[in-house]
Amino acid sequence: MTAHESNEAQVNFWEAAGPVWKKEQEQLDAQISPHGSKAIEVLAPLAGETIIDVGCGTGTSTFQIAEEVGNGGRVIGCDISSTMVDAARGRAASLGVSNVEFVAADAHTHAFAGDADAVYSRFGVMFFGDPKGAFVNIRTALKPGGRLCFVCWQPPTLNPWVTAPLEAARKHVELPFGNDPRSPGPFAFADSAWVREVLDGGGFADVNLEPFEAQADLGPDIDAAVQFVMGINPATAGIADRDPEKAKALFADVADALRPYLTDKGVQTASATWLVTATNAG
Ligand SMILES: C[S@@+](CC[C@H](N)C(=O)[O-])C[C@H]1O[C@@H](n2cnc3c(N)ncnc32)[C@H](O)[C@@H]1O
Repeated sequence: MTAHESNEAQVNFWEAAGPVWKKEQEQLDAQISPHGSKAIEVLAPLAGETIIDVGCGTGTSTFQIAEEVGNGGRVIGCDISSTMVDAARGRAASLGVSNVEFVAADAHTHAFAGDADAVYSRFGVMFFGDPKGAFVNIRTALKPGGRLCFVCWQPPTLNPWVTAPLEAARKHVELPFGNDPRSPGPFAFADSAWVREVLDGGGFADVNLEPFEAQADLGPDIDAAVQFVMGINPATAGIADRDPEKAKALFADVADALRPYLTDKGVQTASATWLVTATNAG
């Protein structure tokens, strides 16, 4: 199976997810920005650098890095979903950010220019059909000595923002992502030994993983959190229109599952990631 064939399901998945990510951008950023921002701090972009943001989505982290590299630098967001890339380009235009560009491309196969000082990703590298092959290709984006820094989720057991609502939802709908812990999906890189194997296989040196924890903000109240977590899951997005009766029972169970996480700052759960760094030894 070629990388392209193995990735067809991912292309379809992320094209379909694009409109939801656009709609929920603010809440998604509230949930995952603490992790993405920590990874940018670890990457430590320098003024004037060229940095590639792999799986950039609608571009939030691309814009953050663009501020760090300044007008003498540039950030190239690469995403397999043209819907995400179109949204990112629209945001760049409305924000007036000129040191970014976006390409709709598969990181497995894209012919990178090879002039990047660093490659970054905020949760954009766990969806590869062929992870080792993808990282062989990603390394070609980097100059000798170039840096890699990405953030990915630790196991679901450390991330109740996903397990609590999904366990409740499972009673009502079939959920995506297979049972193979390494199959493409949010938790494909939860196993640190596997991440090392993938990056070693990709020819990276100095591979390091640091655990990081932050509160995941799911919304100001239970109703908002239910709408958010069900809206970003393709199995349940739009269910209130498709099947109002089922949606009522589903939302009630998910609300019960989230209630223990209601705080005076809204619905917040623990969330745990790996901050992964490596270099291109050349
Ligand atoms: C969980 S989203 C993260 C989006 C963005 N980094 C953020 O934090 O807002 C994962 C992103 O990876 C992209 N993606 C998945 N497989 C990819 C591939 N093979 N090449 C490039 N992008 C990919 C998806 O289209 C999606 O936008």
